[in-house]
Amino acid sequence: MKRSRLATLALVAAASGSGCGAAVDHAAQAEGPAATRAIAGMQPTEGNRVRGIVTFTRVPGGVRVEADITGLTPGKHGFHVHQWGDVSGFDGKSAGGHFDPLGTEHALPAEEPRHVGDLGNLEADASGVARYERIDSQLALSGTNSIVGRALIVHALEDDGGQPSGNAGARVAMGVIGIDDAADGR
Ligand code: CU
Ligand code: ZN
Repeated sequence: MKRSRLATLALVAAASGSGCGAAVDHAAQAEGPAATRAIAGMQPTEGNRVRGIVTFTRVPGGVRVEADITGLTPGKHGFHVHQWGDVSGFDGKSAGGHFDPLGTEHALPAEEPRHVGDLGNLEADASGVARYERIDSQLALSGTNSIVGRALIVHALEDDGGQPSGNAGARVAMGVIGIDDAADGR
């Protein structure tokens, strides 16, 4: 008797947890919308011509970052998620420092610990075009490590992994990372 009553309770609990009811999941709401894809349209800072598109797609093991950037000088360019989605300044500095929700030191992306926003370097070819792809286990599109609503920055110089932020110099392109659900068929 006791056993079947427990089974019934379990069924009720399962039914109330299923998706089609009107009940609001406040825990999920507190975390914000769970985007599956995000995008940053990169615009040049003053005096530069660097622009492009960067997408962030949730995949098993983390987030796939894919960047297509033009207008660079040949070679390596620091590439980071910065703290604030404020690109109102002419030089990108209003975006603040590297996105660092865990309070660690700067590093290149293969190293631990590192700032969550440390994506290393883009590498531009002789014509100034850079293509970057990486599946990153620290970036997220929801929760503490969420990059949605923060800024993405491309730098003039190489990120050499040094403290406090890789010695990557001026900010040559900037964009805000926003929600972009790829499932809508555009
Ligand atoms: Cu940076
Ligand atoms: Zn950093």
